[in-house]
Amino acid sequence: MAEKKRLIAPSVLAADFTRIADALTLAETAGADWIHLDVMDGVFVPPITFGAQMAAAVRTKTSLELDAHLMTVNPSAQLDFFVDAGVDRFTFHAEAEIHSHRLVERVKSRGLKAGISIVPSTPIEAIIEIMGIVDQILVMTVNPGYGGQSLIDSTLDKIRRIREIREKKNLGFLIEMDGGFGPSTAARIWEAGIDAAVMGSAFFGADDPKKALELCRNAKRIS
Ligand code: DX5
Ligand code: ZN
Repeated sequence: MAEKKRLIAPSVLAADFTRIADALTLAETAGADWIHLDVMDGVFVPPITFGAQMAAAVRTKTSLELDAHLMTVNPSAQLDFFVDAGVDRFTFHAEAEIHSHRLVERVKSRGLKAGISIVPSTPIEAIIEIMGIVDQILVMTVNPGYGGQSLIDSTLDKIRRIREIREKKNLGFLIEMDGGFGPSTAARIWEAGIDAAVMGSAFFGADDPKKALELCRNAKRIS
């Protein structure tokens, strides 16, 4: 069986906001697969970061897939802005949208990959009913809102259970993790069964980001 690709998505949240274009070039030359955009509205999570206008600016500077992560209330009101900005993936929080099924269908009808995300305290049962229609599930492995936090170990079991359901029901969504990925956690996280890892501070905070990305991508499976 072909070696599973281990996708890595640097999060610009951890980059120097005065030099985003340089951060994107750094990510591309380091071999990143996606660019993760942490959109925060100051309501769903305390900080405010940026919106679709930043996504549109980023779009003009990189050909990598843009993986938008909406940590906002009322994500459905943001969809058109992010479609116009040119993002490839639109992930919103199950906790922020009563009609997740309808919003997933709307995202896909606009030609974007549809992702659903759950915070550490939300059980996977909250998203079971839409696992058959989503393109990706973003498992928050830290409490959202901040980069540079420590991995919450119990979330790895959620990843395993999601992967088991995917296999049992023969579903096709990608599993992405978000928060606390780095050289000391990568092996365990890959082992839990993810397809993609968000890498913020461990990438942009590294002395040698390219080396850090390669180290994490190739982290050996623990026996
Ligand atoms: C946190 C964000 C994460 C964060 C990851 O709310 O959703 O994407 O940027 O940062 P690190 O990799 O530093 O934990
Ligand atoms: Zn994120």
